[in-house]
Amino acid sequence: MTRERIIAPEESGDETEFHKGLRPQSLDEYIGQPGTVERLKIAIEATKARGESLDHLLFHGPPGLGKTTLAYIIALELGRDINLTSGPALERPADMMPFLVNAAEGDIIFIDEIHRLPRVVEEFLYSAMEDFVVNFTLDKGMYSKPLPFQLKKFTLIGATTRPAMLTRPLRDRFGIQQHLDFYDESDLTTIARRSAHILETKIEAEGARELARRARGTPRIVNRLLRRVRDYAQVRADGVITEQVAGEALRLEGIDELGLDRLDELMLRVIKDTYGGGPVGSAALAATMNEEVDTLEDVVEPYLLKIGFLARTPQGRRITRRAYEHLGEPPPPDAITPQPSLLDEAFATDAKARERKRENKRGDGRAEGGP
Ligand code: ADE
Repeated sequence: MTRERIIAPEESGDETEFHKGLRPQSLDEYIGQPGTVERLKIAIEATKARGESLDHLLFHGPPGLGKTTLAYIIALELGRDINLTSGPALERPADMMPFLVNAAEGDIIFIDEIHRLPRVVEEFLYSAMEDFVVNFTLDKGMYSKPLPFQLKKFTLIGATTRPAMLTRPLRDRFGIQQHLDFYDESDLTTIARRSAHILETKIEAEGARELARRARGTPRIVNRLLRRVRDYAQVRADGVITEQVAGEALRLEGIDELGLDRLDELMLRVIKDTYGGGPVGSAALAATMNEEVDTLEDVVEPYLLKIGFLARTPQGRRITRRAYEHLGEPPPPDAITPQPSLLDEAFATDAKARERKRENKRGDGRAEGGP
């Protein structure tokens, strides 16, 4: 079933042009993901100094967080061309050939949804990525034999919401792997203000914060909300996006104060009412909701997990105490209390460790520079 969803993180229709106009053009302009930005700056600077091509790079994380934007920025910063394609568009090795053959030294080939690459194309890429050679068979006839074809040293940038679905040999061929995580409210507020400025729309600080609070940690969603709220402000208010205007406009769009919409609520309610709070497997859940499994797993679930409304257990999904409270119902005694996912925790710990390291370094620097 297809449903128009204002908070769907994927782009649709005329939106692509709209988002393109708001895209940052350099890493310095990029807001959020400080660890990734810093590592990319170092890799780009070192690559340029050596006159080499950048290592193949894999971005993983939920949709709408900037994987494509970063690929464009990398091409701009390197001064190279970029060509875009996606896993589902590449059905056979032959579909990959134009991208490989046309790439000049250092150019970028971007494959979105790389986890949906058919196995034959994936295997075809191994030697292209590793040795910059492909063995291409022109004909399937009796006398056909593979012709080796030397490629220029291109850079492959892959983007995926499901890194676990890539085969190990493909994953291992990416020298740089970066996870993008949901943005915090402060970064999203800054993005909303920056976008409003580009669109020449007046927005108050609290108006921007209201958009950020309801954007599910996702820049693409904050920009989409801004677009809707801008219309509302123009028609129903005096054109200025205040906290109240943003709140009214988004309520009208069916988005609650946490950024959840009808589909999120449906998922929580189906787990609660049909499956007694869970556990339930995603296939059963998707069938009951008349939705695609991929939509639930890639688009709906990640944010519900992030805010602790949903827990994934070996037996399936369960809704948490917090979700019952949000639905306005008393949680049953056995309702689980949300735990940050192991992945979140690993990244948080990682980020904290890096931050501590940086602080220690700064401390050392001061000590050295001191009297
Ligand atoms: N627009 C969308 N994502 C952005 C980001 N991370 N920084 C600045 N502007 C953006």
